[in-house]
Amino acid sequence: MNTPLVSAQNLQKSFSAGRRQPSIPVLRGISLEVHAGEMVSVVGPSGSGKSTLLYCLSGLEPYDAGSVELLGRELSGLSRGGLAELRRDHVGFVFQSYNLIPSLSARENVALPARLARRRTAKRDVDGALAAVGLTDRARHRPSALSGGQQQRVAIARVLAMYPDIVFADEPTGSLDTATGASVLGLLRDAASGPRSVVLVTHDLEAAARADRVLVLRDGLIHAELQSPAPEQVFDAVSLAGAVA
Ligand SMILES: Nc1ncnc2c1ncn2[C@@H]1O[C@H](COP(=O)(O)OP(=O)(O)O)[C@@H](O)[C@H]1O
Ligand SMILES: [Mg+2]
Repeated sequence: MNTPLVSAQNLQKSFSAGRRQPSIPVLRGISLEVHAGEMVSVVGPSGSGKSTLLYCLSGLEPYDAGSVELLGRELSGLSRGGLAELRRDHVGFVFQSYNLIPSLSARENVALPARLARRRTAKRDVDGALAAVGLTDRARHRPSALSGGQQQRVAIARVLAMYPDIVFADEPTGSLDTATGASVLGLLRDAASGPRSVVLVTHDLEAAARADRVLVLRDGLIHAELQSPAPEQVFDAVSLAGAVA
């Protein structure tokens, strides 16, 4: 099989609970692979480590033990600059909290990553991404003039406009109504094709079931892995893993 786009071996991460407090293990030995063309979703109870997993896999957070390889490069062996470059050129991250720049318009937010990467900003890609999320008529608005759902769609357009090799998305449909959420999921589905792949964290089990594979996290471990499951199978697996997130 081809080299996976992302691979984790026995990934471990703890957070300090304060001085003289024992640190709290959040990821307790996660191994996974994500291959080209795949969409993988991660579900599990709140606090099970889903966001932390995405941060560690994408190089946003350092980990304590084990390994993560992104596009064949072990992250802990990279310099800060090397990591920033790898992320800039290959990785897209949709934050749960959007992380838009307040002083920039929707369109400027979407165009920013290409500018930072000194890629010739392809106007067509920026406009295409805004159109794909249905925000052409809001392109000049600043985030403060947009609803939560519209800001979330700008954050998604900002990632899609770059055509990254791998997209990590943390609850990308959390603020969207059912129809808009379904359309955004379709865009993420499309972004997982050919050489590209998507890792999606969601508490929407119907959304999770649209992935090729669903990983059920519980207490920092992969509790179950389902291949192309029906939504009911995801629901059953999450129920077994604890309260539904
Ligand atoms: N920066 C941090 N410092 C300390 N604890 C954290 C930090 N980030 C997350 N945690 C803890 O790690 C656990 C898992 O968090 P998270 O990955 O956000 O879970 P999920 O996304 O599944 O809800 C939680 O108990 C949370 O309180
Ligand atoms: Mg989370």
